[in-house]
Amino acid sequence: MQRLAAKAICRLGLMAIAASMAVTAHAEGLTAPASPPAKASQCFACHGADGHPSLADVPIIAGQQPTYLLNTLNAYRSGLRGGGRATVMHEITKTLSDDDIAALSAWFGDQK
Ligand code: HEC
Repeated sequence: MQRLAAKAICRLGLMAIAASMAVTAHAEGLTAPASPPAKASQCFACHGADGHPSLADVPIIAGQQPTYLLNTLNAYRSGLRGGGRATVMHEITKTLSDDDIAALSAWFGDQK
């Protein structure tokens, strides 16, 4: 009986951990939205409508790790990437909120 109770408590604990992990992923917004986030249209001209650019000097962002995209966009916004110069990506990311960056990272990361 005691053993059964211990098992049940253990199971509850695991469920709580799983639930909190799901909440964390959601809070970071890295669950890919079904349709492109509103701000994604600002990226299409250079990066292509699905993250595959037709311009030679623009990187492919489709299918990149969402956390890599998130960190990269934050680094552009803060000026960490780009050496503080007014790069294209710094100018664009300046206009993005944390939620925008999370949604864009999840969506582009989810493209093939
Ligand atoms: C005017 C063209 C242009 C637009 C618009 C643009 N980008 Fe970029 N992006 C670039 C260029 C050029 C680079 C590579 C040069 C650099 O690193 O500064 C780049 C680099 C990136 C990178 C880094 C890729 C890597 O492999 O490290 C990410 C991520 C990115 N862009 C995301 C976005 C997102 C998201 C948007 C829309 C909010 C966007 N870009 C809009 C031109 C653009």
